[in-house]
Amino acid sequence: MPEPGSVAWPPAPITTERLVLREPEAWDRAAFIELFTSPEVGTYLGGPRPRDECERTLPETPERRPGVFVVELDGAMIGTIELNRRDAERRSHVRPDAGEAELGYLLLPEAWGHGYAAEACAAALGWFAAALPGEPVVLCTQTANDRSMRLAAKLSAAAAVVLAPALVACGGSGGDSSKADQPGGDGRRLGREGVPR
Ligand SMILES: CC(C)(COP(=O)(O)OP(=O)(O)OC[C@H]1O[C@@H](n2cnc3c(N)ncnc32)[C@H](O)[C@@H]1OP(=O)(O)O)[C@@H](O)C(=O)NCCC(=O)NCCS
Repeated sequence: MPEPGSVAWPPAPITTERLVLREPEAWDRAAFIELFTSPEVGTYLGGPRPRDECERTLPETPERRPGVFVVELDGAMIGTIELNRRDAERRSHVRPDAGEAELGYLLLPEAWGHGYAAEACAAALGWFAAALPGEPVVLCTQTANDRSMRLAAKLSAAAAVVLAPALVACGGSGGDSSKADQPGGDGRRLGREGVPR
């Protein structure tokens, strides 16, 4: 996510052909609980969270923080897109000082298979590239996560960049992806340079 103070947050809602990207609102809470407790959504993300815990602990307006977009279809939340700064210990070498922006995406299972994630990610990346021109964005996913891998490949192709074996960074002038570190566990980072400018 852009450094606090460098980019106004929240931006005006972003409208795509079928979707709206906007900041979370209190009425999204039930959809957030569905998202976080879905076994399908949690398959490659450490598993679903217990429903009672979510209902008890989620704030009135969940996930309302810079970088988090709710993805809305026909007035209802279908998922989230997030642009976050990576922790220093998870550095990708795309930026020498670490702290790269990282793209994340979660859609409710009933919204899979319609191209909504690709449409929402493209819009979020477009917003990010306009807000912070030249900033790379890193995408990290597990190779076993077929849907996410296909989406990563599409996002890279749309930005006319080459997938590197270990890391993909989208957007910006980027760094040297050949120096990308290896991810932990069974994860794999897709990295690329160059962005939708
Ligand atoms: C990863 C995830 C967002 C991908 O969702 P998705 O719907 O498969 O992704 P896309 O938006 O790229 O949609 C692609 C599918 O829509 C289909 N589609 C249908 N209509 C389409 C249209 N108008 N435009 C584009 N694609 C369309 C494509 O053919 C493709 O189908 P396929 O997967 O059967 O080949 C989703 O599976 C998810 O939320 N998973 C759980 C969370 C997760 O693991 N996140 C990754 C964290 S790193």
